[in-house]
Amino acid sequence: MGQRIAGVLAAAGCDVLVYDADPAALDRAVRALAGDGLRVGVAGSVPAVARDADLVIEAVVENLALKQELFAELDAANPTGVLATNTSVLPVTAIAARTTRPGRVVGTHWWNPPHLIPLVEVVRGEHTTGETMERTVGYLGYLGKTPVRVEKDVPGFVGNRLQHALWREAIALVAGGVCDAATVDLVVRNTIGLRLAQMGPIENADYVGLDLTLAIHETVLPSINRDPGPSPLLRDLVAAGQLGAKTGRGFLDWPPGARDTAGQRLADHVTRQLRDQPDTTAGNTTTGNTTDNEEIR
Ligand SMILES: NC(=O)c1ccc[n+]([C@@H]2O[C@H](COP(=O)([O-])OP(=O)(O)OC[C@H]3O[C@@H](n4cnc5c(N)ncnc54)[C@H](O)[C@@H]3O)[C@@H](O)[C@H]2O)c1
Repeated sequence: MGQRIAGVLAAAGCDVLVYDADPAALDRAVRALAGDGLRVGVAGSVPAVARDADLVIEAVVENLALKQELFAELDAANPTGVLATNTSVLPVTAIAARTTRPGRVVGTHWWNPPHLIPLVEVVRGEHTTGETMERTVGYLGYLGKTPVRVEKDVPGFVGNRLQHALWREAIALVAGGVCDAATVDLVVRNTIGLRLAQMGPIENADYVGLDLTLAIHETVLPSINRDPGPSPLLRDLVAAGQLGAKTGRGFLDWPPGARDTAGQRLADHVTRQLRDQPDTTAGNTTTGNTTDNEEIR
C-alpha cells in the first residue's frame, strides 16, 4: 500500500520521501516506482521522512502498539504536518494516543489497489480538528481522489463495515452447508456484484421501494448471521494453516500463480470499470460528502 500511495503522490507532482524499516522492502518499492517512471526520495529514518512534510501517510503493518509508537515519533519530528494513518480497522483515536497533538492525526483509508480505486475515506478521530479534516480532504482532492468524510471513529469506518458484514454472512452460508464456497462467490459476482458499482444499497432500497425493503427485512434479518465474533470455520482454517492464496488453500484451492492471476483480473476489471464510468460519484445520489476538487485547489 505504501509504495502505491507514494506513487499516487509522485504522479501528482508532489515531492515524496519514503521510508520502510526493512531496507529490502524500501529498495523494492523505489525500484518498482522508478519502473513506472515515478521518482521518490528515500529517507533513512522515521524522523527524517516526516520532518518537513505537509502530509505524512503511515502504512506499516496493522499493529496498534507499533502504530502508536510510530505516531509518537512522527509527532516529535514534525509539529505542523497532517499525520495520516492508512489503518484498515484500528481506531484512529487509539493510534494518536501517544502523540501530544492528536488534533492533526487523521485516518486516510485508501483501498487496494490505491493507484486505481478513486475513493479514500477520511476518518475523524475523537480529537481530530476540523482544520485537519479540511486539509486532508484538500490534499486528496488535489491528488485526484474522491475523499469522503467519516465523522465517527467506528472500527472498519464505512467501507470495511459493509464489506465484512457481507463476508460474515458468506462464511456463515458455507459453514451452515447452504452452498459451497465457490457458489457463494459465483452468486455475488453474478448478481449483486454486477450492480453495486452503479447502485449502492441506499439508492437500491429507495429504488425497489422502502415498503418492499421493510417486508424483506422482517423475514430475512432474523436468520442472517449476527455472531459477535469470527466464525469457528474461519478459526479452524487458520489454525490448520489454510490461509488462502499464500498457502495454496483456504476456502478454495490456489495453485501456484493463481494469486497473481486473480490480482491482475481484479486490476483489469477495475480499470475497465473506471474507463467506462470515469465519474465514480455519478448516480442518483447526493455528492454532498465529496469534495469539489477545483474548489480545494
Ligand atoms: N493490503 C490492503 O489491501 C490494505 C488496504 C487498505 C489498508 N491497508 C492497511 O495499510 C497498512 C499496510 O498494509 P500492507 O498490506 O501494505 O502491509 P505490508 O505488510 O505489505 O507492508 C507494511 C510495510 O511496513 C513496513 N514496516 C513495518 N514496521 C515498520 C516501522 N516501524 N517503520 C517503517 N516501516 C515499517 C514493513 O517492512 C512493510 O514493508 C495496514 O495498516 C493495512 O491494514 C491495507
